[in-house]
Amino acid sequence: MTKTSNGKLPAIKTAIPGPKSREIFNTEQSFIAPGRQRISLLAGLAFDHGEGATLTDADGNTYVDFFAGVAVASLGHGHPGLAQALANQASRLIVGTFATKERAEAFKLLSEIAPANLKRAHLYSGGAEAVEAAIRLARSATKKHEVASFWGGFHGKTGGVIGLIGDESKQGYGPLQGGQYTVPYADCYRCPFKLTYPDCGLYCVDFARQQIKMSSGGALAAIVAEPMQGTAGNVIPPDDWMPAIKSVAKDFGALLIADEMITGFGRTGKMWGVEHSGVTPDIVTIGKGMGSGFPVSGVLLSDELGKAEPFAKPSASSSSYGGNPLAAVAVAETIRTIRRENLVENSRKIGALMLSRLMALKEKYEFVGDVRGRGLLIGVELVRDLKTKELLGKAVTELIFTECLKRGLIIMGYFPKIRINPALVITQAQAEAGIAILDEVFAHVRDHVDWRHA
Ligand SMILES: Cc1ncc(COP(=O)(O)O)c(C=O)c1O
Repeated sequence: MTKTSNGKLPAIKTAIPGPKSREIFNTEQSFIAPGRQRISLLAGLAFDHGEGATLTDADGNTYVDFFAGVAVASLGHGHPGLAQALANQASRLIVGTFATKERAEAFKLLSEIAPANLKRAHLYSGGAEAVEAAIRLARSATKKHEVASFWGGFHGKTGGVIGLIGDESKQGYGPLQGGQYTVPYADCYRCPFKLTYPDCGLYCVDFARQQIKMSSGGALAAIVAEPMQGTAGNVIPPDDWMPAIKSVAKDFGALLIADEMITGFGRTGKMWGVEHSGVTPDIVTIGKGMGSGFPVSGVLLSDELGKAEPFAKPSASSSSYGGNPLAAVAVAETIRTIRRENLVENSRKIGALMLSRLMALKEKYEFVGDVRGRGLLIGVELVRDLKTKELLGKAVTELIFTECLKRGLIIMGYFPKIRINPALVITQAQAEAGIAILDEVFAHVRDHVDWRHA
């Protein structure tokens, strides 16, 4: 049983945004530089606190949160155990580098839950930093330098990984790192080859193999793959895709880096995204939910790989904040809580329920083109036409987002590939309340909006 059976439900008392939110938001807008997250700009809200899978704004309005800071708040907001553990640690020691009891505990817990033999770890502060470290490790181990990634993939925005982004958002910053190639992902709803699984025989994998062969300078060090793609819209590939990609990596003498930044720590109804396919990656990158909001990320690796130099040389893989005492406590407390409160099981169970309710919405609304999910990683695609799969326009999706907010639901619904990834502590009542709001908003769109053309 989880401890979360009595969570708060949505309660809206003011216009959205309310007066206090407006004031705080506008003050911030006078000083903050442009380029912050779109969801925050569209919402125009200021938040005061959260509890479990709910957030309460400065005017006292409570929302069910299907966003969770893009799958960061694994234990939900304001988790008392995590808050206490961080407060205790903050009053004793914050600065890192040396071994501490807490850091030893964090590494031990990570090794207990790690996939297969990836029992060693390095800790960092941000996701991109961890993926960069994984690539440096792969280069150290293979003595090669090229990297392949996937269309729709996202691994961060720093110089070493921006070229691996599988969409146009990497454009406009000048030369990307050389030796980086993107190949099609197994996005079966939008198969780039217009084939159907399983009849396709995973043609995208054959194509990826050929594409790498034709573009590479013969020095592929790693293939970086999300077991399920988050940024692309919570896309779920067939379970045999990841093992097939591992065999491509093997063919090129390269390592498979599974980027589990979003899919790790129970998000998909199993501890790791790779468990769904049974593949063993060579390296796993972790972040987001691992600290439940505390900025911590990391790389999981095997004993053998950990010896590869220059990565393994003293000071070669460290950073100022990676694994500092606060981060270590956040990781240890998050893992302990996920286990104690059976949150992987909650993710599986509530995720399955949400998926079945959303499938029913697919039958009900002509503009719901696809619904897919594993655990609490769920994607919904909204289209103008079920055949052409042309995506619903921005005016409609932004309306969906704001109409949901007005009723007490925060959801990444401002683009047509809706991403649903609430805290792992979400209760059945909260999940149902959120989907009921989405249903009501979809009905509003069907009845009052020229959604095919807007
Ligand atoms: C799969 C994946 N990898 C890496 C990152 C980058 O993480 P960060 O934003 O912490 O740099 C993200 C962020 O969304 C992600 O989804």
